[in-house]
Amino acid sequence: MYCSRAPIPRTGLLYSKTDIHAIDGKTVNDQPTLNTAVIYGSARRHRAGIKAARFVMRKLAQRGHQATLIDPLEYPLPFLDLMYKEYEPGTAPGAMETIGRILDDADGFIIVSGEYNHSEPPVLKNLLDHYQSEYHYKPSGIVTYSAGPFGGVRALITLRAILAELGTPSIPSAFPISQVQNAFDDDGNALETAYERRITKFLDEFDWYAHALKQARCRQACAAVDPAVDDMPTQQALCRG
Ligand SMILES: Cc1cc2nc3c(=O)[nH]c(=O)nc-3n(C[C@H](O)[C@H](O)[C@H](O)COP(=O)(O)O)c2cc1C
Repeated sequence: MYCSRAPIPRTGLLYSKTDIHAIDGKTVNDQPTLNTAVIYGSARRHRAGIKAARFVMRKLAQRGHQATLIDPLEYPLPFLDLMYKEYEPGTAPGAMETIGRILDDADGFIIVSGEYNHSEPPVLKNLLDHYQSEYHYKPSGIVTYSAGPFGGVRALITLRAILAELGTPSIPSAFPISQVQNAFDDDGNALETAYERRITKFLDEFDWYAHALKQARCRQACAAVDPAVDDMPTQQALCRG
């Protein structure tokens, strides 16, 4: 694994030349695997957006990501009382521990969100608010959707501000989906070719940021143990909160 704390590569060359070319090139096969958490934002019994979340999961898997879906129906959280970090280690409710581990292991996040009254769904905000350091120095990508023609773009705006504050800035591209109920089949296959084309561009960009920040986090972790590797400040010194 290229981003392990031990053993520390003495050369400081954590990406090979081939890897760096691969970032700008078409193939990601010789890149380290990205762990990506897909955070889905609806717990409604008749939710339509789950098909969009499945579509994203399918596309990430095809690109070789280790993708994990965080579904608030599968991992229900209480309304925010204590944040995850406020529990003694190992004492948070089960779903909160599981989500915490998934977020911590992730190299980046894809948010799949509907638009409720021109904003993000409350179940999504509640989930996001429980965590903090788990997001830091990792990129996010925003997928929004709606039943109507506008693809949830107003929730996209609110999510950008929230994700920036959480320390997981969103990539410039976004992926709005209009009439989500007609866009995918139940397995998450796109019913329009335009979505296939657009998701490739969106995820290409997400991959670039995820690899770049993963490399930077790795250099920091190595430098914390062996200053000869790099002179970047330690992760702890830079972490907020
Ligand atoms: C409480 C609520 C508020 C909504 N507000 C909006 C809205 O502001 N703009 C919009 O385009 N659609 C709105 N819708 C319609 C949603 O786009 C549509 O129901 C979508 O399927 C919701 O995502 P979900 O089914 O995954 O929960 C709203 C739906 C709900 C339940």
